[in-house]
Amino acid sequence: MHNAQPWRFVHRSGGRSLALYGDPQRTLPFADPDHRALHLGCGAALFNLRVAAAHHGWAAEARLLPDPNDPWHLADVLLRQSDSADRGLADLHPAVRRRHTSRFPFSEEQIPEPVLDGLRAAALLEGCRLITPGAWHTDAVMELVRDAAMLEAASEAVRAEIASWTRTGRPGEGPATEGIPVDALGPRQYGVSAPARDFDAQRHLPDREVALFEEHPQIALLGTVEDAPADWLRAGQAMQRVLLQATLDGLAASLMSQPLEWPELRPSARDPSVAIGFIHMVFRLGYGASGEATPRRPVADVLAFQ
Ligand SMILES: Cc1cc2nc3c(=O)[nH]c(=O)nc-3n(C[C@H](O)[C@H](O)[C@H](O)COP(=O)(O)O)c2cc1C
Repeated sequence: MHNAQPWRFVHRSGGRSLALYGDPQRTLPFADPDHRALHLGCGAALFNLRVAAAHHGWAAEARLLPDPNDPWHLADVLLRQSDSADRGLADLHPAVRRRHTSRFPFSEEQIPEPVLDGLRAAALLEGCRLITPGAWHTDAVMELVRDAAMLEAASEAVRAEIASWTRTGRPGEGPATEGIPVDALGPRQYGVSAPARDFDAQRHLPDREVALFEEHPQIALLGTVEDAPADWLRAGQAMQRVLLQATLDGLAASLMSQPLEWPELRPSARDPSVAIGFIHMVFRLGYGASGEATPRRPVADVLAFQ
């Protein structure tokens, strides 16, 4: 979230495993006080590791939260050379570098049902559920996104936190290897039908374009039955699996977690008739510009050898 990259990998010499830790220096105290989003991001990084391992012919077995005394030790991944590395994972490998968040308008073209079926299957393979809501539920979720944007605008602390992770090229901003760069902001919205988060809301960059977004956003909701840290890590892996599959299918995607960041709004995002207890992510999917790559920290900052 906000491209904070809150992960750290450790390889212990002689061992066949990589440990994944959450980074307590990279939390978002106002938008993510219970670290649920941090677990989602780290789950996505864990999924990419499993994809890379499969691509290189290794089987990767992940154990979540292996140390009951250390909540920041999120996973151990045991690597084994294997003749039967998971093909389904390996096939996703080309999408790892191609997938980007797209905060650009999408067309009104409908996503075919077999493509949506594939995305639902991707979530199920990771133990989660993906639902594609009908018209009333989509409208209700969009209303919640707008409500959240208003709460965000009214909270100085949240706005300051967003600003501290936005890179507009002005002096005094943090390192360019993290945070949201100006190229990833997308245009300012005219009419606001599918509110992408506006990381520029505070500064109003003078030469940012304005665009009309799709009138009928196509969204999908990712959820789990329970809401504990292990569920958040599973949801993060499912989120990444859905996004990589969507990339292979030629879809563009952005994420809208604003309503899930406010405890008073989050329960209303679910459809009471569907057996998903807790929503973890709202995807906006469609056909349009795929977005640009956002910078990442150097490998030496995120991988240690001990
Ligand atoms: C838990 C989580 C929540 C996110 N919520 C939003 C959001 O509300 N709005 C948005 O535009 N992007 C959201 N993002 C997307 C991140 O900003 C994005 O992944 C990050 O900046 C890196 O860019 P990339 O996806 O292009 O690699 C979220 C990402 C995560 C992991």
